[in-house]
Amino acid sequence: MPGELIDGKKIADEVRAELTSRIASLAARGVVPGLAAIIVGEDPGSKLYVKMKGKASEEMGLAHWTVELPETVSEARLLGEVARLNSDPKVHGILVQQPLPPQIRVDRAVAAVDPRKDVDCFHPTNVGLVLIGRPRFAPATPAGVVELLLRSGHDPGGKDVVIAGRSNIVGKPLAALLMQKAKGANATVTVVHSGTRDLSAHTRRAEILVAAMGSPRFIKADMVRDGVVVIDVGINRIADSTAKGGYRTVGDVDFDAVRAKAKAISPVPGGVGPMTIAMLLTNTVRAAELLGEA
Ligand code: GUN
Repeated sequence: MPGELIDGKKIADEVRAELTSRIASLAARGVVPGLAAIIVGEDPGSKLYVKMKGKASEEMGLAHWTVELPETVSEARLLGEVARLNSDPKVHGILVQQPLPPQIRVDRAVAAVDPRKDVDCFHPTNVGLVLIGRPRFAPATPAGVVELLLRSGHDPGGKDVVIAGRSNIVGKPLAALLMQKAKGANATVTVVHSGTRDLSAHTRRAEILVAAMGSPRFIKADMVRDGVVVIDVGINRIADSTAKGGYRTVGDVDFDAVRAKAKAISPVPGGVGPMTIAMLLTNTVRAAELLGEA
């Protein structure tokens, strides 16, 4: 029997439904949570994500703005836009979509966002708060992974969790979340990466495997054990002449073969993607609540 599907769309809808009463309480005080996204250049993946974030905001009754900057924009101009949004009281959440072109230092862009509006949870202060177990915001994609696990009945507590990938956006903050002494965490975490010797020896030990290295279909069936729970964070576009538009989206897991051995697995698309957006909306609502208290 193939592993059960972990339905990210359905779970994201649950998370979003739980936000409506909080949004109504804010509305009663005259506050509409607002999310501003800055996008630089024409990367089709980034444009699609930002569009989806805007659409989800609209569906939930949040205000949203997209600031589109050219590929050649200077770092100073980008930082100026961030500063403008930092001081706009209607804007509660700000995100700078990555990747960014080479003339812009990612660490400068990330650190320029007011930590109280940093709904991506990328600012060094917010990353540190996650690490010490006192988060202001939860990093959106890692928090989405945790919610997928919990709400599909696979609590990571006490389990051997292997995370493949050590990015600042997913692997590192997910390790920080899962290692906390806290409900919904408390896992034994291993992070494997391009420098890991005998990577398969580690992934085969995993009771829960999170694939987040950004390499299409990298995780093969012989790299997992029977009964594994797999969360696939990868979003890779690969050429496919039979698909509409000439490409299709696949994850970091060789889906059908790994599913045959797995207890449960999240698909791509329809797994982590909708969760990232639901957690981003959650953070925007939280930012509006916290800024209202300040
Ligand atoms: N690029 C890939 N994922 C993300 C994300 O969650 N936030 C931002 N800002 N950029 C990304």
